[in-house]
Amino acid sequence: MSGALSEEQKRELAGAALDARGRAYAPYSHYTVGAALLGRNGKVYTGVNVENASYGATNCAERTAFFRAVADGQREFAAIAIAGGEEGQEPAGYAYPCGLCRQVMREFCGEGFQVIVARSESDCRVFSLGELLPHGFDGGELRDICQE
Ligand code: THU
Repeated sequence: MSGALSEEQKRELAGAALDARGRAYAPYSHYTVGAALLGRNGKVYTGVNVENASYGATNCAERTAFFRAVADGQREFAAIAIAGGEEGQEPAGYAYPCGLCRQVMREFCGEGFQVIVARSESDCRVFSLGELLPHGFDGGELRDICQE
């Protein structure tokens, strides 16, 4: 798994995010999100938003996907597809990842990591993580201090 994704791979990843979205747990916002994260091992890890009555305990779909993958032993990734919108309806717009999720992406991925926001399998926009989180904090300096 390396380099830019083919059109077919993009469609498949978007399809997996749209499919996962149906399993979101969003009884408070009724805004359901699905994510599909492609590991460098070729495996796809899906995630959904999991809300909580204590709203701050909610986990976004993208972070659910990352945490599942890391728990599975995978730490290298090529791309993520994200789809979100009102529960029970097709996505009306593109679901851009929140700031927290962008930061979690940056922990494991470089600026070339591809972020696909999908309204459907054929209606996608693709960004690099560098575009979505320029000058991100990647912990490099922190690690230098910790090693002193
Ligand atoms: N949400 C995500 O799953 N991903 C994001 O990047 C933004 C927001 C979820 C969290 C919450 O369940 C709902 O969308 C409304 O904020």
